[in-house]
Amino acid sequence: MSVLITNIGELVTNDPEADDLLGVRSDAALVIDDGRVAWVGAPADAPAADEVVDADGRAVLPGFVDSHSHLVFAGDRAEEFRARMAGERYAAGGIRTTVAATRAATDAELADGVGRLVAEMRRQGTTSVEIKSGYGLTVADEARSLAVAARFTDDTTFLGAHVVPPEYDGDPTGYVELVTGPMLAAAAPHARWIDVFCETGAFDEDQARAVLAAGAAVGLRGRLHANQLGPGPGVQLAAELGLTAVDHCTYLTDQDVHALRESGTVATLLPGVEFSTRQPYPDARGLLDAGVRVALASDCNPGSSYTSSIPFCIALAVREMGMTPAEAVHAATAGGAAALGRADVGALVQGRRADVVLLEAPSHLHLAYRPGVPLVRQVWVAGEPL
Ligand code: NIG
Ligand code: FE
Repeated sequence: MSVLITNIGELVTNDPEADDLLGVRSDAALVIDDGRVAWVGAPADAPAADEVVDADGRAVLPGFVDSHSHLVFAGDRAEEFRARMAGERYAAGGIRTTVAATRAATDAELADGVGRLVAEMRRQGTTSVEIKSGYGLTVADEARSLAVAARFTDDTTFLGAHVVPPEYDGDPTGYVELVTGPMLAAAAPHARWIDVFCETGAFDEDQARAVLAAGAAVGLRGRLHANQLGPGPGVQLAAELGLTAVDHCTYLTDQDVHALRESGTVATLLPGVEFSTRQPYPDARGLLDAGVRVALASDCNPGSSYTSSIPFCIALAVREMGMTPAEAVHAATAGGAAALGRADVGALVQGRRADVVLLEAPSHLHLAYRPGVPLVRQVWVAGEPL
């Protein structure tokens, strides 16, 4: 079944060969065939297809690639959010509330929750999502969290090193031994990535090194949560190890920025977190000007950022972080794909997976210009309409 989308007012291709960042083509057409982008060109030259969609001058973009989320959880932390808006500080310890609720949930309840959030994401234009464990923190609860996540995505991430759970209070070394031993063995069959929350109140540099090394030894690729709540060693560790991505990057020194530029590690910025924790936003402008590759992601989780909306993150990145609308859209599509090491998504050029978003708007600018407005009109994931 082939689909021709024609009369596209603005087609964002992210073609790396183009002169402009987004590879924009005006007055364009695109053919989807067999789940892939089969053809891109002018409407007058378009080949015939089984179905024709008239975009009537609207914009078409690659689907968003949300490279950082924590969707496997139960309960919510609305009360914690209320207290924060009244002046409380965000701290890593709140994670334990969600751990207790997640342990008490059935697999079916966890899967229902993930399904609901993935559906929410899709309606807002997200066509690829990474999903982490990290609210189980026992061997069985981490393994089942990842098994649930794997029903929804290939990009699953083992985050046993999220916080030290209460039963290991006073024995973080014992917990790291559990994570790098039996928990990793149970998690690895369901995971592509391994992640550590490297932060005061969570895990230090040596512990992060140990967890990433154990993961690498069984074939898991590393990523890190780092420099979220204050300066720290995580970003430089990610650069030293040549990790694909390091996420948050809110508190960076010049040395951190230099290390990211040299290593090519993608800095994934998560502005939903700063919005919802009332922290200063990361300096996206500084990173981009220094030549660091940047991605934007939701970090959807019940504690620090309970949004599933990439359009919201794009609007924040433009308004609060000094990104141009083009840079923000690129970071949420091609940037997310780079942060997941994926060459098959993030662009609308021939041969890529047909992950396509048709906006109810004439250009990508409207994603930041009309914040909070549901502008996604139609979505195809691997060529299939939602
Ligand atoms: O990415 N920083 C660590 N983990 C999550 C927050 C988890 C939570 O508060 O439940 C994050 O922000
Ligand atoms: Fe996170």
